[in-house]
Amino acid sequence: MKKKLALASILLLPFIFLLYMLFVVEVEDPIKYIYTITGATALMLLYITTIISMLKKAINLVKYRRMVGLFSFFYALLHMINFVVLDMELDAASVISETLKRPFIYLGTISFLLLVFMSITSTKKLFPKFYKYHKVIYISIILSSVHFVMAQKALSVEQWVYLSIMPIVLVFKLLQRTKIIHI
Ligand code: HEM
Repeated sequence: MKKKLALASILLLPFIFLLYMLFVVEVEDPIKYIYTITGATALMLLYITTIISMLKKAINLVKYRRMVGLFSFFYALLHMINFVVLDMELDAASVISETLKRPFIYLGTISFLLLVFMSITSTKKLFPKFYKYHKVIYISIILSSVHFVMAQKALSVEQWVYLSIMPIVLVFKLLQRTKIIHI
């Protein structure tokens, strides 16, 4: 229990950092800043969730996987709220026209809906029935990464490094499935 509480506190750090940057430092472009911190954290936590699954025979951290996944959903939810409430000012017509103008938003939305599905079906009661479908996490990772790239005009070195985690995770998973590696 103490370990789970410690983990939850660590997973809340990006959120606390975000509040600090918004209300104490007062960053220049808060909406853009919220997109970056919430989007990058949601994606990083998705990577960590899959890495926990892949390494479960070597290091068993499965009991923490649900919490990491739910925090990924939490940051994705903040990201989506930033779009609808702060960026589009709750104007349905702007949400629709902006989405039509910037197709990368479709990919983000599909990825977000997959996260909603996984979060709802991650309870003790529903997970045994739905765990097979939680493989959609890989689709969510791919869609979110493409969404991330498409949202940029140009990618910085840090962004390239960040994105390179995706093919590593996917290739590792493939090698595990085809039994080329046995971790
Ligand atoms: C309803 C779903 C979503 C919407 C409407 C949405 C919207 C957006 C928008 C508008 C941007 C561009 C921000 C800009 O102008 O620079 C963006 C960037 C981004 N999104 Fe999303 N997104 C969604 C889902 C997701 C999800 C599920 C993830 C990750 C798991 C994600 C990760 C990112 C990342 C990493 C960026 C780049 C942030 C940056 O500029 O540094 N998004 N998103």
